[in-house]
Amino acid sequence: MDRYAVIGHPVSHSLSPRIHALFAIQERQQLEYGTIEAPLAGFAAAARAFFEGGGRGANVTLPFKVDALEFAARASERATLAGAANFLAMREGRVEADNTDGAGLVTDLARNLGVEIAGARILLLGAGGAARGVIAPLLAARPRLLLVANRTAGRARELASRFTPLGAIEAAGLEAVPRDRFDLVLNATSTSVHGEELAIADEVLAHAGLAYDMAYGPAAARFVSRAQAAGTRACDGLGMLVEQAAESFLLWRGVRPDTKAVLAGLRSLPR
Ligand code: ATR
Repeated sequence: MDRYAVIGHPVSHSLSPRIHALFAIQERQQLEYGTIEAPLAGFAAAARAFFEGGGRGANVTLPFKVDALEFAARASERATLAGAANFLAMREGRVEADNTDGAGLVTDLARNLGVEIAGARILLLGAGGAARGVIAPLLAARPRLLLVANRTAGRARELASRFTPLGAIEAAGLEAVPRDRFDLVLNATSTSVHGEELAIADEVLAHAGLAYDMAYGPAAARFVSRAQAAGTRACDGLGMLVEQAAESFLLWRGVRPDTKAVLAGLRSLPR
């Protein structure tokens, strides 16, 4: 049976095995999808052992997405632009890397949440790996403005300058974000995962069309409740997780599963 896995640290909490098992049932495909917890300094050894043992493909989660890109013999353009990979596949004896996170976000926004990205004003909070991974796919959907705002403004400027050829991208410090309306506010800072306060003005959230945290579950709860308390529609990144999984499944198996039922099923689980 074809074997797949998600590699991370920690990884036991990952919903990916459950999502891919549901996709496999839906698409009547025989495959196995497990978890591999690699030691913090041991991503390459764990990935090598998996692929040498016949593994067909892996998803890669925190903190190994940069290691995954370095590990692969080849990388897609979107993984190279993201500077990170969440997807590996064995193809013709070589491991190839891709990044399906940005596509997962854009699909969740467009298909599940009804957000029109073309022409929208988007505020992206954070300038680390999570933010960098979604910039090119967002710009490809032609927003009117993508403003990258970060605690360390210089990091936002550096990131924005790298993507300027791809679309309308600007940068600011968190405190300098204009208080007017953004159609979409995306939280890509690590404050959710680390349970920290995000120093963004309440008005920014209050005026947003949608406030979206790229983390999911309890990690996203603080940002989501804060936006909801400000009267704003808000959601976590569970849909992004399911859509990046569907994109991965497509690349490995040649068919894109229907995500609606899987996402609804996961949303109905007790948190
Ligand atoms: P990730 O891969 O999760 O993006 P990262 O590359 O370490 O992790 O980046 C973390 C991001 O969250 C950065 O944009 C960071 O801001 P700085 O560049 O100023 O460090 C942001 N971040 C982390 N803690 C934060 C906090 N308490 N308030 C605001 N932003 C924070």
